[in-house]
Amino acid sequence: MKTHSIAIIKGDGIGHPVVDAAWEVLQAVAKQSGFALEGTQLPWSCAHYKETGVMMPADGIDTLRNYDAILLGAVGWPAEVPDAVSLHGLLLPIRKAFDQYANVRPHRLLPGVEGPLRRGGFDILCIRENTEGEYAGAGGRVHQGTAQEVAVETGIFTRMGVERILRFAFAQARARRGKLASVTKSNAQKHSMVFWDEITRQLAAEHPDVEVTSYHVDAMAARMVTAPESLDVVVASNLFGDILTDLGAAIQGGLGFAASANLNPERKAPSMFEPVHGSAPDIAHLGIANPIAAIWSGAMMLEHLGEKAAADRVMTALGDTTRQGIGTVPGKDRTDAITAAVLSALS
Ligand code: NAD
Ligand code: IPM
Ligand code: MN
Repeated sequence: MKTHSIAIIKGDGIGHPVVDAAWEVLQAVAKQSGFALEGTQLPWSCAHYKETGVMMPADGIDTLRNYDAILLGAVGWPAEVPDAVSLHGLLLPIRKAFDQYANVRPHRLLPGVEGPLRRGGFDILCIRENTEGEYAGAGGRVHQGTAQEVAVETGIFTRMGVERILRFAFAQARARRGKLASVTKSNAQKHSMVFWDEITRQLAAEHPDVEVTSYHVDAMAARMVTAPESLDVVVASNLFGDILTDLGAAIQGGLGFAASANLNPERKAPSMFEPVHGSAPDIAHLGIANPIAAIWSGAMMLEHLGEKAAADRVMTALGDTTRQGIGTVPGKDRTDAITAAVLSALS
């Protein structure tokens, strides 16, 4: 039987229950579909940091390299470990080390879900650059603690990095409805964002079949709320993509619905699948985390592993669940009840 080996990092807070839910659903669909998923749990998290002083071992990246894919919950427990320590010790180095430069985040309404901002149907695919830009970590602080203190955070945009994410986005647009929205802030950021716009225009000339429009990120934020149906593929830098995809989550009903794939498109290293949301400390022990985003991310993982029919079955089961009104409103249904409904929709 075909077996896929998966590294499972539940991380912190609601990362645990939502990954448990996703794993249960993934196992069920694998059994139905005639392949196996072999999971290895890695306890890397803020709790692990408190025990060992590191978020993951020094050879953590080498360990992960052996798996076909990584399934992740959420990282961060800011009450005990500063976010800058936990995220730069686990999540961000994985994205970077494995060149998972395309962060793919679909935003659409599942049947029966009414987002607070819903205005008809929409189907947006956000493509977020995931390895450089504003997250490059370049910068520093001088004269710390004095009135002269200066903090610098430099965005780094390389031609290779910008071109490859735009090429990826053009290909996605070609495979969908042929529309690409490229997001920058080139009216204010005159180096990196003008550079991004230039490369967008160069690539547009190579893709005459794709309708390309450049938007400023502020205008895009408004458009995603007022006219989401006008958008198809949206491509943005690391930080802008981060912000726009929480907005995307909001228009699709909440953070509990937003899935993501951190892809190494060339498949030279494992890709990682995780919900867009974080560890949600405010609800972490209440048993009400919505597992749909994690389950949907699991479906994206199956598709990446070549199990498209199984991925489609999971998405159909999610739709059948929300169509019955289960899991549609944040906090209404318990994690276990939503998971049970998805499992029964599968069978
Ligand atoms: P968050 O996404 O954890 O929570 C924001 C709000 O959305 C909270 O009110 C939370 O209860 C709600 N929410 C999130 N997921 C939900 C779900 N599945 N079901 C129901 N409600 C849900 O964002 P935050 O509060 O800014 O961050 C908390 C921690 O998570 C921080 O340490 C942050 O750095 C980290 N974080 C990690 C990731 C990641 O690992 N990919 C992503 C975002 C935030
Ligand atoms: C996300 C998260 C992370 C990001 C944080 C936790 C560093 O918000 O995956 O969207 O900004 O990439
Ligand atoms: Mn985010």
